[in-house]
Amino acid sequence: DGEVYRYYADGEWRASASGKSVAIVNPTTRKTQYRVQACTQEEVNKVMDAAKVAQKAWARTPLWKRAELLHKAAAILKEHKAPIAECLVKEIAKPAKDAVSEVVRSGDLVSYTAEEGVRILGEGKLLVSDSFPGNERNKYCLSSKIPLGVVLAIPPFNYPVNLAVSKIGPALIAGNSLVLKPPTQGAVAALHMVHCFHLAGFPKGLISCVTGKGSEIGDFLTMHPGVNCISFTGGDTGIAISKKAGMVPLQMELGGKDACIALEDADLDLVAANIVKGGFSYSGQRCTAVKVVLIMESIADAVVQKVNAKLVKLKVGPPEDDSDITPVVTESSANFIEGLVMDAKEKGATFCQEYRREGNLIWPLLLDHVRPDMRIAWEEPFGPVLPVIRINSVEEGIHHCNASNFGLQGCVFTRDINKAILISDAMETGTVQINSAPARGPDHFPFQGLKDSGIGSQGITNSINMMTKVKSTVINLP
Ligand code: G3P
Repeated sequence: DGEVYRYYADGEWRASASGKSVAIVNPTTRKTQYRVQACTQEEVNKVMDAAKVAQKAWARTPLWKRAELLHKAAAILKEHKAPIAECLVKEIAKPAKDAVSEVVRSGDLVSYTAEEGVRILGEGKLLVSDSFPGNERNKYCLSSKIPLGVVLAIPPFNYPVNLAVSKIGPALIAGNSLVLKPPTQGAVAALHMVHCFHLAGFPKGLISCVTGKGSEIGDFLTMHPGVNCISFTGGDTGIAISKKAGMVPLQMELGGKDACIALEDADLDLVAANIVKGGFSYSGQRCTAVKVVLIMESIADAVVQKVNAKLVKLKVGPPEDDSDITPVVTESSANFIEGLVMDAKEKGATFCQEYRREGNLIWPLLLDHVRPDMRIAWEEPFGPVLPVIRINSVEEGIHHCNASNFGLQGCVFTRDINKAILISDAMETGTVQINSAPARGPDHFPFQGLKDSGIGSQGITNSINMMTKVKSTVINLP
């Protein structure tokens, strides 16, 4: 009906002076569902100025008060779970139940962040000088954590709410202000989430949310001199941002090609269940999804059969029906996935199911006997298509995992815990899960990627620490 969602600046909902908007296409209907403002660079400048001013006062606001407001926002967020989940269903085709879980998980994350913040930021350190050679006990160094300033948060489409609050919560509790640039798909869910923070009563200008085309305001935001920290989750863009960003701390979580290594002694039912959950939940559109199965030849037939038996039972359809497999986020994403499938076909992979696609909806597909010369052995489809590579030794599996340019997570299935730990040590990934599929949560666990999968570590505690700096005062005695 021509209505355009407003952006959030200086505690107000505003229409952009550009008079332009960006369409959000529903992945299921492939029709425009919502429109958001296409903010201008001038508007970004204003937001940055306001964020800088608001931050100074916020940093002086007592920590317990900051925590109190975050708890309030968390409760409001949970109260608004239904309308926010509805947006997730329409904008990113997240299955209805998962959409609600994302919002609830986000509320819990914000509360936990407030609690964790008052503990870790409420502590400082005292050092005395006489432990270093040549010094008397005449200097006392008091150090505590201070905020960085303005934090720029850029979450991805697959968790527009959860991966926004995982940046907003730590930034705010630590005394920073925050500028959010939501993904286009998921922007309206993010605006609703920001509204919950608005209702909680945070000071004007402390939180802002600018929407628009990445091509117009993306670089302008990430290279803006007013930004003191960037927390980004997404794809390759992160690598480009890291090259252009100024001298500011970066927290990045980019892609992954998480391997699932299954040994002969593994519980085969457990392996199959985790391949399906890890590879196909939210249609494989998670950076922590299982993206390559590396399985010992002797158990491969049995596991492939078990996985196939589960795949036929998955419900394929619209997210409103709470289907397991829903349309992927955009047509170009579906085309990319199809490209990987066709490449594997030409090079002789075994199709365990017939390849089927209608619009953005792709039916779950397991590709067996994938070889390293196929693109899908290395690239991440971000869709419901999973390659199986048969291996003859554990070393072969570890080698494939480590030859990837990614290093987010991985998993190993075996009943031998000693072997599992040795394999975990050998895998060049930020996390290795033993006997379960990769996953970021629980959200207070450290979460990090090696190589092209990221910079720094996330998880509630690590994010709070990352968004602070140490400040010292030294008392010199006569
Ligand atoms: O894709 C984003 C990544 O953070 C995944 O999170 O909770 O699905 O493991 P999760």
